[in-house]
Amino acid sequence: MERERMVRKTEIVQVLRMKEGTGDTSFAKTAYMARQILLMTKSIREKVMKELYYCMEQPKILCIADLGCSSSVENNLMSVVYGLIDTIDKARRELGHGPQEYQIYLNDLPGNDFNTVFSSVTRFKDNLKEKMGDDFGDCFVNGVPGSFYGRLFPTNSLHFVHSSSSLYWLSQVPEGIEDNKRNIYMAKTSPPKVLKAYYDQFKKDIWMFLHCRSKEVVDGGKMVLTLLGRQNSDPCYSNRTGYMWELLATVLDNMVVEGYIEEEKLNTFNLPIYTSSPSELEFLVHSEGSFALDQVHASEISWDANDHKNRSSCDQYDFAICLRAVVESLIVSHFGEEIIDEIFKRYREIICASMAEEKNSVDYITISLTRKSRG
Ligand SMILES: C[S@@+](CC[C@H](N)C(=O)[O-])C[C@H]1O[C@@H](n2cnc3c(N)ncnc32)[C@H](O)[C@@H]1O
Repeated sequence: MERERMVRKTEIVQVLRMKEGTGDTSFAKTAYMARQILLMTKSIREKVMKELYYCMEQPKILCIADLGCSSSVENNLMSVVYGLIDTIDKARRELGHGPQEYQIYLNDLPGNDFNTVFSSVTRFKDNLKEKMGDDFGDCFVNGVPGSFYGRLFPTNSLHFVHSSSSLYWLSQVPEGIEDNKRNIYMAKTSPPKVLKAYYDQFKKDIWMFLHCRSKEVVDGGKMVLTLLGRQNSDPCYSNRTGYMWELLATVLDNMVVEGYIEEEKLNTFNLPIYTSSPSELEFLVHSEGSFALDQVHASEISWDANDHKNRSSCDQYDFAICLRAVVESLIVSHFGEEIIDEIFKRYREIICASMAEEKNSVDYITISLTRKSRG
């Protein structure tokens, strides 16, 4: 039993990865939702960064970590890092401080396309110098492969931790959800036992995440974390975010009926994700106890790019392709490579039909936290 659990846990770490590279179907090119939420939370994370810088003595090296960084470098990852450094650069000039050295840690699972990340670093550093001047200081970038549900950094080494669209991934598929037949996530027809198993797994994972970070973040250090979530307490009836997975389950179920997929295969597939409510997150932060919860902020993003305020005229966006880049690795490893195109052809059709009939959106929750003093 223990061995089986270990195998399943290892598999997620080894199997989960966003679509690599920079081609049209890569995560880098299609991570539009993730980019939208980064734009919507920009002011929150930069305000928190500024507050942090103002209330500490200028550190010799300022250490920032982005957890679950993935490989959408130009649009997502490096724009976050650039925004944070720019914030500090302005603050240090206001305070009359000298140049600042930055240590930037980019973390993701070992299967992440770190090559795409690393190949952008030189350009990024040149850009910093060009925009901020030679006297901005220096910036050192490190890749950190590993799960954020374990220790990743030395004790007391981080000033600021950021994570966006990543912490909703669980460390493993919850145990005891064999009865979640024909569903692939928490759905309206999921038995209560399944909903409880999902929440229990999330509780364990978030506790472990906070516990590990509590060792690594300095006293007074800050974290800004954005997760896919839900706005109400009911995990499925009011869970708009889960609807995109319900449609994927419908596609897979139809393919079972038509004989493309064995029923047993569908019954044993469940997504290792959890969409938490603001009150669940508040409760879990308080129960772990190492961080003070400063802010909780909810955002909603429409499936339809035409509804987005930050949309630029050249944005090409297809919700189904965007989701494919996120879950393809898990689906291929369970159902095989041969039917992946058929699954997503049908998924795209069902998504388009749904969008023609109704407005759909997903919810995100952002929390900002401060490491309490160790006393
Ligand atoms: C949807 S992507 C978000 C990427 C990026 N933060 C952004 O906003 O564009 C989620 C990332 O979280 C990573 N991830 C999931 N579970 C993880 C874990 N336990 N440890 C580290 N990274 C993880 C995935 O590999 C993936 O690259």
